[in-house]
Amino acid sequence: MAKNHLIGLVLGTEEDWPSAFESIVRRLNGPIDHDGESHALLTERVTYEPFDLRAIPRHALVIDRLAHWYTLSREWLKKVALMDDVYLLNNPFTFQAMTKHSAYCAMMRLGLKVPETWMVPHKVPPDDPRFPDMSKRYNLPFDLQQVAAQVGYPLFMKPFDGGAWVGVTRISDPQQLGANYDESGERLMHLQAAVDGFDVFARSLSIGAETLVVHFDPDRPMYDRYQVTHDFLTPELGAEVIAIGTLINAFFRWEFNSCETLIKNGEVYPIDYANAAPDLALTSLHYYFPWAIKSLVKWSVFCTVTDRKMRIDQDMDRYFAIGDDPDLSYEEKLGRYQAMAEDYFETERYHEFCGKHLPEIDEVTVEYIASPEFDALLVDTVRSTFPESEQPQFVEHYRGLLGAWVTDQA
Ligand SMILES: Nc1ncnc2c1ncn2[C@@H]1O[C@H](COP(=O)(O)OP(=O)(O)O)[C@@H](O)[C@H]1O
Ligand SMILES: [Mg+2]
Repeated sequence: MAKNHLIGLVLGTEEDWPSAFESIVRRLNGPIDHDGESHALLTERVTYEPFDLRAIPRHALVIDRLAHWYTLSREWLKKVALMDDVYLLNNPFTFQAMTKHSAYCAMMRLGLKVPETWMVPHKVPPDDPRFPDMSKRYNLPFDLQQVAAQVGYPLFMKPFDGGAWVGVTRISDPQQLGANYDESGERLMHLQAAVDGFDVFARSLSIGAETLVVHFDPDRPMYDRYQVTHDFLTPELGAEVIAIGTLINAFFRWEFNSCETLIKNGEVYPIDYANAAPDLALTSLHYYFPWAIKSLVKWSVFCTVTDRKMRIDQDMDRYFAIGDDPDLSYEEKLGRYQAMAEDYFETERYHEFCGKHLPEIDEVTVEYIASPEFDALLVDTVRSTFPESEQPQFVEHYRGLLGAWVTDQA
């Protein structure tokens, strides 16, 4: 009898990647034999309802794309992590605690080239009756222009805990700074030196032990930001971007995250990497969508079948010991972090496992992407994303990109 592993999907409104994920799992060739046992994978969409804190969940692993905005699911995830050892992508204990600000701080200490960043007090203070008295005693008057002068223009003003470009502005002079600060209201903001005139924007998407680095163009509309170009980085820079992404993920225990780096004159500047539960939409990822779904399936199978344990506790001191060592160069630090990250993700064992137990996954994914089943999903996704008049053009656009991916796999 095969041992069943149930993979739960915690979802909001999306239909594209969950359908693709379910189809690929269904198309895999039967149970997997590992360590003398036979393992079968099943998927199920998690529904939200009252729950007994002592209830025992049926899931072995849960992939979450909802908990960042729906607290019921978030608290259910915390319960199943703490009480039931359910494996989570991602672990809410880490990503809830880790704003962009905390991630900047940790990565600065580890020696990454985070641009100069300052935090400034709220323009409009928190609405609390105790604030005026506290503030009179302890809030020092400050000169915003002076802070900006230390950071240097141009700079970016952005929320310390932001996402999705909300409230992010590029500021080129003191007048604009004043106006944008006034608009920031109750949001706590960073001022960050701009990496201006960068050569490349590289966005890396990480799923478990794998990271894909894509050339990203932030000035294009949403559907056209991921560029289908290869060799846009030298092998050394490509490896550095991957090392940075895997370090961040291993450090925070994020297994499903994206990292944004700007590359200028051969230096890699990470600017945004607390993006746990990243966008997986077919309409954003297009050519890279099959890679993402396949990697998600592989990592889920690896974790459940090998009974990998999720680690809730972090291991920051071991990383800081390297970051704090004045005798190590940037390159030496990255090398050491990478070894620790590969150890954390069991990278070698993962690749061996996939070679041995999922040899058909590449072929299964190509067959699925080339199938009428996937084409129907593509058409539905375009219909639910774009206005009617633009749908025919976008259906062809995405068919072209996914067709090119299928051709490139041959
Ligand atoms: N220091 C910077 N230098 C250059 N561009 C930046 C910098 N910070 C942010 N940006 C631009 O602003 C965008 C949004 O900022 P980001 O830090 O990624 O916030 P969010 O979490 O909202 O995505 C980035 O994708 C990039 O195009
Ligand atoms: Mg960003």
